[in-house]
Amino acid sequence: MNPLANRHVLLGISGGIAAYKGAELVRLLRTRGAEVQVVLTEAATAFVTPLTLQALSGRPVRSQLLEAKEESAMGHIELARWADVVLVAPASANFLAKLSHGLADDLLTTLCLATDAPIVLAPAMNRQMWVAPATLANRARLLEHGHKLVGPDEGAQACGEVGLGRLVEPGVLMSRLETLFSPGPLAGVSVLITAGPTREAVDPVRFLGNRSSGRMGFAVAAAAVGAGARVTLVSGPVAVDTPARVERIDVVSARDMHAAVMSRAQGCDIFIGAAAVADYRPANPSPHKIKKAAPSLELKLARNPDILAEVAALPGGPFCVGFAAETEDLETNARRKLSRKSLDMLAANRVGFSGPGFESKENSLSLYWEGGSMELPVAPKEQLAVDLMEVITGRYLAKSAAENT
Ligand code: C5P
Repeated sequence: MNPLANRHVLLGISGGIAAYKGAELVRLLRTRGAEVQVVLTEAATAFVTPLTLQALSGRPVRSQLLEAKEESAMGHIELARWADVVLVAPASANFLAKLSHGLADDLLTTLCLATDAPIVLAPAMNRQMWVAPATLANRARLLEHGHKLVGPDEGAQACGEVGLGRLVEPGVLMSRLETLFSPGPLAGVSVLITAGPTREAVDPVRFLGNRSSGRMGFAVAAAAVGAGARVTLVSGPVAVDTPARVERIDVVSARDMHAAVMSRAQGCDIFIGAAAVADYRPANPSPHKIKKAAPSLELKLARNPDILAEVAALPGGPFCVGFAAETEDLETNARRKLSRKSLDMLAANRVGFSGPGFESKENSLSLYWEGGSMELPVAPKEQLAVDLMEVITGRYLAKSAAENT
């Protein structure tokens, strides 16, 4: 059975010449057994007639937000809940701009805001519009919000220019939707991830912290969900949105993180320690704000528990992946850490005062395991996380298979 069979696909069509391909999309979705509800933006109605799409989809096309007759059939919130996936094809520059800013001034943008279904966007526009700084910023924001962008393709455009901006082929969109509903390689697998920094109290207003943004760990959590896993994310204080379908537990200090992880580690299959956990904490945090009276001040520090090492030492514990930020001798230090903490894999990256690393949106990783290694070149953290998760999945499945024979 096709993974799209009986799925509810809300097909949004925005205003652009590629809107005519909406008819082919509806046909392909229907032949795969999907139920299709078409929603047109006002501009799209200038390119395609609702009647064609209604005939192909077998459902009246919707386009108005507050139209009494349309709303009485299925209200917009009901429609948002009905959808298993929202596909917007073509997604115009204007539509991407509105969605990336959370506008809800017509039916399609309102549905996108009101649904918890995944949103797949297939942009199509003039090549200059695609690379305009405003569109670039909107694209980045949409990816950050967890939406999926497919395309555009390169080629001849309706405006006579040649470049990136054509709607991807309908067949490609079908495959993307099919993978969305296929059980991923980690279906039934539970993944526990730590992310972000920890804060170690010095007094009620001060703490020792570090520069970790949490972005890498959060991206890994999203990638693990994408691979079909059940994901729990234990996070220190960060300003990053929680990826869809991730259970997030907020903690502050290393000891909080330790408690949150140890109570869950035994039941998980894969543990990924992406947090920058403070190795030390002030031994005796002051109950009152420390006054600047003395000419100097000494802070006595106590060792924090090593969460990753403890999880890796659990008998019958999960497949363990650690991260290592190193300023020098990357491989030597990484391999030492791999064996000292008895890890299955270690992802190392070089950090310094400048360049990719802690606070940047891009990074590169060197992966090490016993008897092997792999380089993941510089890429946005979201992409890098997907690549990393693929390697983790492969090695986890191989280890489980070896253990079961
Ligand atoms: O030894 P080091 O701190 O460099 O190791 C880094 C790895 O160990 C990371 O995966 C980090 O999340 C984890 N770690 C931990 N608990 C600590 C220190 C580090 O889980 N107290």
